[in-house]
Amino acid sequence: MKISIIGAAGGIGQATALLMSLNFNNVELSLFDIDDSVHGVGLDLSHIPSSVRVNTYSGYKNINDAISESDIIVITAGITRKPGMDRRELISANAKILYPIIEAIALNCPKAFICLVTNPINSLVPLAARILSKFSIFDAKKLFGVTTLDVLRAKSILEDKLNINVNYEDFYIMGGHSKSTILPVVNDKILKKMDSSSYAYDDFVSDVQNCGDAVVKEKRGRGSATLAMATAALKFVKSLCLAIEGQEDIIECAYVATTNKTISPFLAAPLHLTKTGWDSILIEKKIEPKVESKLLDILAILSDDISLGEKVYDLMSLSTDISNHKSLAVKC
Ligand code: LMR
Repeated sequence: MKISIIGAAGGIGQATALLMSLNFNNVELSLFDIDDSVHGVGLDLSHIPSSVRVNTYSGYKNINDAISESDIIVITAGITRKPGMDRRELISANAKILYPIIEAIALNCPKAFICLVTNPINSLVPLAARILSKFSIFDAKKLFGVTTLDVLRAKSILEDKLNINVNYEDFYIMGGHSKSTILPVVNDKILKKMDSSSYAYDDFVSDVQNCGDAVVKEKRGRGSATLAMATAALKFVKSLCLAIEGQEDIIECAYVATTNKTISPFLAAPLHLTKTGWDSILIEKKIEPKVESKLLDILAILSDDISLGEKVYDLMSLSTDISNHKSLAVKC
């Protein structure tokens, strides 16, 4: 299995590379960044005994060698928020970074699974889908916005507030990945526990939605979540590897292009993962009224976020000088 991390010299990229080198066996890890300090990251990792082989590549001209024959490509490259900023405000800077990366994938590694971590996920996944479609190689089953961070946060918060052990089967995350579109949905066991405690479902939803802002604020202008984000990327990619290897019962939440345009063309939801990508969305048929009313509000916001990504794609693809996008690529 070959896994490439794009933006590997950045905070999330480095932590993801570390976790992967500690948690995988017999994997080839390809670390790419436009910044040549990525070679130091690779050397640093090489001093940790591991069966994972690490190769490093820097500079945009080497991205093709970095990603060639990858099974999975994890994109963490991008700039991060400052306190008070909304994830949507990252769209133009991060779209310029993402555009040439997705083009390189389309041209060199069109069958790879793409795991996008860069924000704003709600808009960049639709933008990436448009770029891949331009090359006629878009496979909705293989493009994921990684929203596993919300899953980790929901589990930690529930365990802390309700003082119980929570299984991943007890809840899932729907909607998208922004302050007002993250929607955790819990099962009856958790709802009953909430009813008998002073911790209400609405409080839980807003606690999960506010985690990203809180980390950005507490990092005092020096970035956003890296450690939990890398842990989330590891969890998602590990599940994907198991599914690719043929394990049948793998479920993870992610933000994907749905085939059901009536709900939303893009949505975060629990997905059944298979060798060839996700094959079904596993949302309860009977959605609680209080969840349903939140979901309706979220779908309207999501629709704006999706349009934003598609508009930015249109603007960028009008530009005849694609190398202009390339020169703007910066590391995380
Ligand atoms: C998060 O939720 O921590 C990430 O989306 C990063 C951010 O900007 O909040």
